[in-house]
Amino acid sequence: MVVDHQVILVTGANKGIGYKSVELLSKSHPESVILLGARDENRGNEAVSKLSANNVHFLQLDATDSKSIDAAVQTVADKYGKLNVLINNAGIGSSSGGLEEVKKTFDVNYFGAQRVIGSFLPLLKKSREAGEDARVLIVSSEVGAWSHNLQPEDLQKVLDEVDNLSVQQLNDLSQDFLTSVQTDKKSMYDWKDLFNGYGPSKTLVSVYGRVIARELKGDGIVVVLLCPGYCATDLNNNSGYRSAEQGAESINYGLKVKLAETGGFFQDGHAQSIKSEIPEAMKAAIAKHQE
Ligand SMILES: NC(=O)c1ccc[n+]([C@@H]2O[C@H](COP(=O)([O-])OP(=O)(O)OC[C@H]3O[C@@H](n4cnc5c(N)ncnc54)[C@H](OP(=O)(O)O)[C@@H]3O)[C@@H](O)[C@H]2O)c1
Repeated sequence: MVVDHQVILVTGANKGIGYKSVELLSKSHPESVILLGARDENRGNEAVSKLSANNVHFLQLDATDSKSIDAAVQTVADKYGKLNVLINNAGIGSSSGGLEEVKKTFDVNYFGAQRVIGSFLPLLKKSREAGEDARVLIVSSEVGAWSHNLQPEDLQKVLDEVDNLSVQQLNDLSQDFLTSVQTDKKSMYDWKDLFNGYGPSKTLVSVYGRVIARELKGDGIVVVLLCPGYCATDLNNNSGYRSAEQGAESINYGLKVKLAETGGFFQDGHAQSIKSEIPEAMKAAIAKHQE
């Protein structure tokens, strides 16, 4: 069955920015089906009931589990026959360093994004083939832009030449970063870490977004990178100075971005650079965190 209205999926939406994104979308797109993705069935269903919106439905999806993603794709295919908008929002921070923790962060923020987006691409392409809108919104972070700017020149040169980069090369770079975390191993590049792997995971997911934007432009699929800004959520022990709702508004702007702007990075509707200096005000906080 293919439904007439738009089908929008937000991953990691049982709380935080993802939850607020679903709430805003349920109001701004009353005709659309909004799928609230969550890895935990109870937390997902609770979030849906809290919203009490009749166009919001729970979809079980764990970004680290291919079986869960395949089942989610099958459910969307069976129930709706297509997907118009995929908001890849699920993400985690790392409270401590160490290889295992950093690997977990990469497994959700970088490899998880790739698993989810790759698996839903056929349904997105189906929407385009039917002449409908199809887009991928990747919730990245300004922290990824700061981390990008911290990297040594030879690595930045590779990351910046998006036209020559493949997803496989980015996966190899991700592995190289993980190698750099192991003190007894020699990595190819002299990686600089920021927030225990969180920064590099967001740098790489942003570059991944730019690479697939280039690859999918011919199919008419828009890919947008977004930063919600520093919002008070569980990810940062509610230390952010913006609300999750402001973050969600910043994310949902991605629905308005045109194909000509595909691969762009936006916050609050404004185009951002893919790499930027750490603001002075953040430097002290970062130094404290790195102690
Ligand atoms: N808050 C900020 O200041 C800020 C700034 C820049 C970017 N971001 C990005 O915004 C996104 C949302 O973060 P948030 O601040 O809203 O954090 P949050 O409140 O901690 O929410 C994170 C969401 O991701 C889900 N999640 C974690 N691991 C998952 C997995 N393996 N599969 C599926 N879902 C998973 C969580 O589910 P559970 O409840 O089951 O753990 C939760 O629903 C993240 O990508 C984050 O990096 C946040």
